[in-house]
Amino acid sequence: MSRIAITVNGKHLLGNTHQPVLEQLELAGLKPEFQCRNGVCGACRCTLKKGAVSEQDAMAYLGYGEILACQSIPNENLTLEFNYRLFSSSEKSVN
Ligand code: FES
Repeated sequence: MSRIAITVNGKHLLGNTHQPVLEQLELAGLKPEFQCRNGVCGACRCTLKKGAVSEQDAMAYLGYGEILACQSIPNENLTLEFNYRLFSSSEKSVN
């Protein structure tokens, strides 16, 4: 496991390289949208602005540059953008 930095909608979080992005954002107190949590619905899609992820199998439609937060595990520092506001109760590490 490695520690990484995740920047999401301009907020900076500490993350790791062993959990899906969706779980890490939730553990940090953010509220990304989700439904299925297994790559089918597409509700968790976001744009990967910088960095790289390992993507598990998914069936949801994705636009150019988009990833599914529930199916993506960071490989390195990430910059992500959701097209809605993520409500945050606090910023903290998920390690
Ligand atoms: S929550 Fe359904 S694809 Fe991620």
